[in-house]
Amino acid sequence: MSDGAHSERPVSRIENFRNLSPAERIRKLGGISGLNQASQKMLSGGALPVELANGMIENVVGTFELPLGVATNFTINGRDYLVPMAVEEPSVVAAASYMARIARGCGGFHTSSTSPVMRAQIQVLSLKDPYGARQRLIEARDRLIEVANTRDRVLVELGGGCRDIEVHVFEHSPVGPMIVLHLLVDVRDAMGANTVNTMAEMVAPLVEEISRGEVRLRILSNLADLRLARARVELGVDALATKEYSGERIATGIVEACALAIVDPYRAATHNKGIMNGIDPLIVATGNDWRAIEAGAHAWAARTGRYTSLSNWERDSSGNLVGTLELPMAVGLVGGATKTHPAAQAALELLGVSSARELAEIAAALGLAQNMAALRALATEGIQRGHMALHARNIAIVAGASGTQIDEVAARLAADHDVRVDRAREILAELSGRGDD
Ligand code: MEV
Repeated sequence: MSDGAHSERPVSRIENFRNLSPAERIRKLGGISGLNQASQKMLSGGALPVELANGMIENVVGTFELPLGVATNFTINGRDYLVPMAVEEPSVVAAASYMARIARGCGGFHTSSTSPVMRAQIQVLSLKDPYGARQRLIEARDRLIEVANTRDRVLVELGGGCRDIEVHVFEHSPVGPMIVLHLLVDVRDAMGANTVNTMAEMVAPLVEEISRGEVRLRILSNLADLRLARARVELGVDALATKEYSGERIATGIVEACALAIVDPYRAATHNKGIMNGIDPLIVATGNDWRAIEAGAHAWAARTGRYTSLSNWERDSSGNLVGTLELPMAVGLVGGATKTHPAAQAALELLGVSSARELAEIAAALGLAQNMAALRALATEGIQRGHMALHARNIAIVAGASGTQIDEVAARLAADHDVRVDRAREILAELSGRGDD
């Protein structure tokens, strides 16, 4: 089936998708994924009424929109996904789709994840015997877990809840000895911040009693190192070849580019930003907390004490290029904007995910695809060629182009390597002179 029309699961390879208008694209998605008219409308813009926004945050004056694109070609664990991405940066959606297309021909992305376990931290001060306090808390593990689980019975019924504790001692801190009790909580399909913060507050009095100290902070950790998502891709070098560069040259270039990010934090920051270029747009489109994801990713990248690459690129014994990515991914399907924002709901419907773990794994695959796109370009022609071609469309619009003029003006700007608004205006004037407007 070429476009998967009305199949149970959408086929993510859609011929000619980029050449359609936004309205045609959304109709096409409707046909392929079974997304109903109401959800199609939600993804088309203006989904968030001001009244709803007013209930979400404070001092609301309006809403703020971003372009919403759909990355195509993704196959993850043998299943196709159409991936919604809300992002302002040109070339991100195109790059992800392009790399997913190459990956698709090589078996697609393979992903896995841990159970959705979040950490809540309870800080205890004014301790005379921090090590004694630590052991008393460990001895009271079962009681602490029981108290933590008294509040959220629904979570426990769903198979989640507090699973374990850890107690970390900081003998020397600027305010004297301190211990930090961690609650390790399986939050199932929630992002989990509210759940674990509530639990931490619930157990705090008991922690104070047992430790004989004073509890201060009771809050989740965004270093969600027990809630990891992983993605892997294996690419035959022939699949990587372009007209200008051999697959061997590209594979070697990607491995060398990654090596710089592994050894040098200055490069790692940019390398990881490229990964987040893929992940954040999905997080935003599904109404999740992108600051939490960013905080977790960068803290994880620095977990050894030296900030480094989140991904790895290497060659296997057959010469295939193997890319892997592993990072914390605290995303939810229930609660917060995920539930209240109508476009986020429609985006999740388009994705067709049934668990937060599935969403987390798609995010990891998207990050890896984006990373591969950036490294491929950087290791060969440089990033600006492709970027400028797409940036030219923005410049054409700023200069006043509309409809078919946009692509025509953009193509000429890019061909002349002169992507400026005043040049775009000149081209537009020429087109008008030709009667093309
Ligand atoms: C630009 O938004 C992202 C890149 O800088 C990522 C990278 O350098 O790997 C292209």
